[in-house]
Amino acid sequence: MTYTTTIQPVSSLPVELDPSRLPAHLAIIMDGNGRWAEQRKMPRTVGHAQGARTLKNILTCCDEWGISALTVYAFSTENWRRPLDEVNYLMSLFERMLAQELEAMHDRGVKLQFLGDLTGLPISVERAVRKAIELTQHNRGIAFNVAMNYGSRSEIVETCRILAARVQAGQLELGEIDEVTFGRELSDGLAPDLLIRTSGEMRLSNFLLWQLAYTELYFTDTLWVDFDRAALLKALLEYQGRQRRFGGLGGAV
Ligand code: FPP
Repeated sequence: MTYTTTIQPVSSLPVELDPSRLPAHLAIIMDGNGRWAEQRKMPRTVGHAQGARTLKNILTCCDEWGISALTVYAFSTENWRRPLDEVNYLMSLFERMLAQELEAMHDRGVKLQFLGDLTGLPISVERAVRKAIELTQHNRGIAFNVAMNYGSRSEIVETCRILAARVQAGQLELGEIDEVTFGRELSDGLAPDLLIRTSGEMRLSNFLLWQLAYTELYFTDTLWVDFDRAALLKALLEYQGRQRRFGGLGGAV
């Protein structure tokens, strides 16, 4: 599905923002947790714990301001290369957050979805994820998509395999594979309107490579832990000042 802006009276929306020009779908690469902790001479894991709080606040804010979908990069396929202690901490943090926040998110109508290879997660995390998907599947509030054990290149390769198998089985003609069929298989409904990356890094780091083709990119030096409502407002104001042309001369395709 493609997310669309639903303009609703949102009392808490800052007056500077035009509700009809909010990104329907916001994606975030939450970067800088480790540096935030190191700057304070604390273990990197403290940064991740604080980062989880930030995520909770930003999800609530997106929901209140009328953004239809939030997609975050929580753990990449490359993140397994980190020290075992840090990986274990992150996995237990995901599990704990899901356990603590699931009911409250469900009550608010949040629809949780996950991207990435869930079978590669520790079994207890996979179970918590599947429970969250099942519980919230019919919710109609903000879509909260969490990329875990996710890598965009492998997602693209997997899509090639699926389509090739269909061709081999005689279910699909080679000529029928085009950007539309390929994109549909790859969930290109997940194309974000705006991508924010925190902490001053200016890379995509194997995140939603196909889906970001026409996304507006916003980079900020603010570390993820410090990314608050004011920082989000600044990003959204810059987004609203941009003209999206989708390769044409103006207006959406
Ligand atoms: C990047 O900072 C952050 C991560 C790899 C983990 C992000 C996870 C959270 C914010 C926890 C909450 C998530 C959920 C879904 C409950 P970094 O460690 O790369 O920071 P650095 O670049 O300063 O080292």
